[in-house]
Amino acid sequence: MHPVLVAPSLLACDFGRLHQEVERAQACGADWLHCDVMDGHFVDNISFGPAFVAAVAQVSRVPLDVHLMVDRPDHYFERFVRVAHNITVHVEAQHDVGATLAAIRAARCRCGISLRPATPFSAVEPYLDQVDLLLIMTVVPGFGGQAFMPEMLEKVRAAAEWRARRGLRYRIQVDGGINDATGPECVGTGADTLVVGTHAFRAEDMAGVIGQLRGS
Ligand code: DX5
Ligand code: ZN
Repeated sequence: MHPVLVAPSLLACDFGRLHQEVERAQACGADWLHCDVMDGHFVDNISFGPAFVAAVAQVSRVPLDVHLMVDRPDHYFERFVRVAHNITVHVEAQHDVGATLAAIRAARCRCGISLRPATPFSAVEPYLDQVDLLLIMTVVPGFGGQAFMPEMLEKVRAAAEWRARRGLRYRIQVDGGINDATGPECVGTGADTLVVGTHAFRAEDMAGVIGQLRGS
């Protein structure tokens, strides 16, 4: 239904050379840039916040895909709406999920919903008619460089079936452990948006990696 998009995750880039890394990802064909915001509460890591994402926006020519791994996305999303193409919040966070999604939309931003590996697909079902994107975590959120969890393919399949049955249009995004083997598997199961951190930024040939994933 949607063409496959590849979103390199800046969590895996060299923060000391942020602007060059953004340029490199763009030059290598990134469709979106994925920005993992972590607050040290919702996940056991602190990554970066609005000032960092604003610095990315200064040089980015591609849409910024903001993934909020924070306890209170309802409180923090506004700090990203000016520069984000879409903002994704977690269903497990401490907020009125429907109200947050509506508020993101009211701020003229696209919205997404995400779920951890341990959370059943049924938890996001009530929100799927309100979102532009469903982000299925394929690792426990918090850190890059973890191994893909193949059991999550079942959620990708459920998400694709749900979308087809109801005539919805949300993108199905996978995040965590995506590489040249797991990416095509996800696309074959119904995913259309691939977040790729380590495998893209640590590759010798980033353009080759992105091109190959997009063609999968
Ligand atoms: C994990 C983040 C991911 C992460 C993916 O909590 O949401 O976006 O950067 O990194 P890789 O591709 O290295 O698993
Ligand atoms: Zn992410």
